[in-house]
Amino acid sequence: MRKLKIVGLGVGIPEKILTNSDFEKMVDTSDEWITERTGIKERHIVEEKTATSDLIIIATKEALKQANLKASELDTIIVGTSTPDTPFPSTACWVQKGLGISGQAAFDVSAGCSGFLYALEIASYLITCGSSKKVLVAGAEILSKITNYQDRSTCVLFGDGAGVCVLVPTNEERGIVSSNWGADGNLAELLYLPAGGSRIPATCDSVEKKLHTLHMAGNEVFKNAVREMENATLTALQDAHLTVEDIDLFISHQANIRIIEATRKRAMIPPEKNYMTIQKYGNISAASIPVSLHQAYHEGRIKDGAKILLAAFGAGFTWAAMILKW
Ligand code: UT7
Repeated sequence: MRKLKIVGLGVGIPEKILTNSDFEKMVDTSDEWITERTGIKERHIVEEKTATSDLIIIATKEALKQANLKASELDTIIVGTSTPDTPFPSTACWVQKGLGISGQAAFDVSAGCSGFLYALEIASYLITCGSSKKVLVAGAEILSKITNYQDRSTCVLFGDGAGVCVLVPTNEERGIVSSNWGADGNLAELLYLPAGGSRIPATCDSVEKKLHTLHMAGNEVFKNAVREMENATLTALQDAHLTVEDIDLFISHQANIRIIEATRKRAMIPPEKNYMTIQKYGNISAASIPVSLHQAYHEGRIKDGAKILLAAFGAGFTWAAMILKW
């Protein structure tokens, strides 16, 4: 076991809500279609001036309060995001600026919806090798700013939000029991943001063609998501020498209720152990797992010593699964 303790959790959720009926006025869709095909009822959307680091800073203040730590005591900041404040510097550096601190190692991890688990994986090794002692791990997105609100096949899916945790080393029997991660870049174009990088820099043409918005082949992503999350989940259980009976809570990336249910059934996880927040937030990519963890914790669903199975799948494609002993 890679021993570590989560001493603080926090979220940054924008106040403004877009409901399914709001979308009925924007595109040719219905509450019935969105609810049945995705499980989403509403999503939170930022105001125009808000950036990803702003949400992380709100979340971090909450987590530091619970951890009884000052921001200056953090020694490492890792942000999982696909919607950074700027292409560079990293969102983690903007978080430092916003918190008024300096000196920490600070960097982003780009792994789509698997970003939080990728960041947690890295943090766990930094902690257990002794390099880091107080780590902020964030999963945060502002997907509303890369969404094409004329494309009904994607615009109803995404929301904004941030979730963070503060990790410290411990001698107690808690931490990461098993984990695995992977990627297949050959399938990158099934879910990506075509422009704005070195391949297609921003031009009037790229903006006109809406190449700065998210492009997704939904069906293909769906099939791959179910397959890879199932594989990653079963591998995490096998590596930990555990069965689903040993697991107290299953929290997977919240992209689509049908993907979550298919993964849950294939891994034979009983419905009462499956924790979902997709109804309220839609797909918030790297933020979906930490936001769900925060909510489950505050509802009393995560007790001391609980074993939590986490699984994610996203752009890249990337995937990851992890068993966390609380
Ligand atoms: O976050 C990590 C990665 N993301 C995901 O994991 C998302 C994976 N994909 C999905 O969740 C699903 O594929 C979607 C929710 C995106 C789409 O659901 P689907 O069941 O795969 O629908 P579809 O794309 O096969 O479309 C079925 C029909 C089409 O109409 P026709 O061609 O059958 O007449 C679409 O045009 O549904 C239509 N449709 C809609 N209808 C009403 C697509 N979007 C909408 C909509 N409202 N918003």
